[in-house]
Amino acid sequence: MNQSLKEQVQQEFLNYFKTEPLLVFSPGRINLIGEHTDYNEGFVFPAAIDKGIYTAIQQSETNKSTIVALDKNEQYEFTTSSVSPLTTNGWQNYILGVVSEIQQKGKIVPNFNLVFSGDIPFGAGLSSSAALENSVVFGLNQVFQLQLTKQEMIFISQKAEHNFVGVKCGIMDQYASMFGQKNKALHLDCRTLDATIHTANFENYELILINTNVKHSLADSAYNKRRAVCENISKLLKKSSLRNIKEHDLITIKDKISLEEYEQALYVIQENKRTLQAVKSLETDNVSKFGSLLFESHEGLSKQYKVSCPELDFLVHKAQKHSSVIGARMMGGGFGGCTINLIKTSEKEAFLTQIQQEYAQKFKHNCAIYEVNLSNGTQII
Ligand code: GLA
Repeated sequence: MNQSLKEQVQQEFLNYFKTEPLLVFSPGRINLIGEHTDYNEGFVFPAAIDKGIYTAIQQSETNKSTIVALDKNEQYEFTTSSVSPLTTNGWQNYILGVVSEIQQKGKIVPNFNLVFSGDIPFGAGLSSSAALENSVVFGLNQVFQLQLTKQEMIFISQKAEHNFVGVKCGIMDQYASMFGQKNKALHLDCRTLDATIHTANFENYELILINTNVKHSLADSAYNKRRAVCENISKLLKKSSLRNIKEHDLITIKDKISLEEYEQALYVIQENKRTLQAVKSLETDNVSKFGSLLFESHEGLSKQYKVSCPELDFLVHKAQKHSSVIGARMMGGGFGGCTINLIKTSEKEAFLTQIQQEYAQKFKHNCAIYEVNLSNGTQII
């Protein structure tokens, strides 16, 4: 828990609105493996982290709502009785989207005031957006006694992203941020939302993120296009999703689709298999197998699914060549953001110093290192 951030949002709320707020923490997430599988009804293996969004919220005494984004030093006013997306597509849309989606469920949202800040960078692939959405829906649910279940809340967050932000995301980020557990990773079946909980113990190795500091923008990137390719191929094979398609099924329509589409669908089918293998290798303490699956996942994301970028590829290739790293891959939607690395604890300093120097030399800007702890999901603090 970032005590000073918690106190800061609380204090700022008091300064602005002269009343005690409810405080909510909603974490960002990492994903061990299972990338771009969630919207294909497949498997993912994420975990909530101890960094995220801190939100102070309370009912408004006036007929307007005021939101303060501390990190941006920006303020926005609206009334909950007329909510529509901003065409500028800023942070406001995550909040407005949540309000609108709650209303779509027939619930009344009175005006409210909200102050938020965070310690995960936007656009780093750590799901700051899901954390923000979850913190807002969780806070509103509490303040106005809306009686929403956690499951309903994550679907509200996801729909806010679809309808107000324009990213047709899967459910992984919102799920992990809401249902995360301390020191655990969640093996989630995105078709049924059944999850099994696993202790993330990598023996002498630890998880370290390296941020390329290349900000990804899922909305204008190829994310929605990739999703459309997957859905078209499923339709061609008369299945509800790629989850239900085997490699030999895909071959039967190879001449009806482009080579690029074939490779992309193949990636998803293989990534689902890798995710199941990774869960098994963690259960059987086979850390090196787990690591090699991460490298394979990256290869698929980069060469087949084509959602990597030169900076991510550089970091993973350097990691692959280094004896102290047994697994690494790009993480999240892609086109920037972080790599996730399994690094031998006793040798991590040497590796990290080296990779930071090499990265700066090559790209003329720095990468950033994050150590993460797995944490509980969205909660009142
Ligand atoms: C983003 C989306 C998720 C998921 C990942 C890729 O984080 O929000 O739903 O699709 O990309 O695995």
